[in-house]
Amino acid sequence: MRTSGMKVVASYNIKGGVGKTSTAVNLAYLASRDGLRTLLWDLDPQGSATYLFRVKPKVKGGGAAIVAGKRTLDDAIKGTDFDHLDLMPADFSYRHLDFDLDSRKRPTDRIRRLIAPLKGEYDVVILDCPPSVSLVSENIVHACDVLLVPLIPAVLSVRTYDQLVDFVDGMPGRKPQVMAFVSMVDRRKKSHREFADQLPQERASVVAEAIPNRAVIEQMAQERAPVPVFAPTSTAATSYEALWARVQSCWSDTRR
Ligand SMILES: Nc1ncnc2c1ncn2[C@@H]1O[C@H](COP(=O)(O)OP(=O)(O)OP(=O)(O)O)[C@@H](O)[C@H]1O
Ligand SMILES: [Mg+2]
Repeated sequence: MRTSGMKVVASYNIKGGVGKTSTAVNLAYLASRDGLRTLLWDLDPQGSATYLFRVKPKVKGGGAAIVAGKRTLDDAIKGTDFDHLDLMPADFSYRHLDFDLDSRKRPTDRIRRLIAPLKGEYDVVILDCPPSVSLVSENIVHACDVLLVPLIPAVLSVRTYDQLVDFVDGMPGRKPQVMAFVSMVDRRKKSHREFADQLPQERASVVAEAIPNRAVIEQMAQERAPVPVFAPTSTAATSYEALWARVQSCWSDTRR
């Protein structure tokens, strides 16, 4: 259990294209809007979160320099257009992050150790993770307090989720709280409605706060801003607010 006040939330799934980045970007913004000193670390070489916050996808020395400790996170972190919200950008060198991590001592604990010195500076760190099961994923699981998993409404997505839960259970050391939610729900479809209504009842780790499938979420790429900034009264914005409240309940309930 973490003794510092800083909380680390990872938006993660083995699967791609399920809403990880959209979630990370909106929750990071909502955290900062609450006045929490927030850092979003874009760990994906695609750099989508970096792009959405209008930050240059450039890390001097690349991921290798960060992982090796040649360059501190503090030195590479950028500000955003929003108060209390900073961003650690990704660049394309992050495609080698697994290799960079593997050449270190205690390679599965490296990201946690890189974040630890930031505890006086940030209240919340959100990790936007690449889709994969890799050394980067193991690092992420070790580094976070809450592993937040978007699940799209499809049977195979539950199967992948079960593999992910097994992967986390099988890892040595401290484990995060796994919290899944249903992502991209189109309530006009019966199968989506059933999935979103039933899964939280069937599995304790799946919360009821779902994110609907909405064009306004795709529009983030045009606006290059979080949904609550350009569509504050939209259902999508209120759904992300409810999800953020739910994530925070993890630490307020248990006083971790
Ligand atoms: N709830 C939603 N409703 C509609 N579109 C969405 C929703 N969530 C995400 N999208 C869109 O789906 C695409 C994938 O979303 P996003 O980038 O958040 O997923 P990801 O899991 O981070 O993908 P990757 O695995 O490639 O990193 C994007 O075009 C995004 O705008
Ligand atoms: Mg992404």
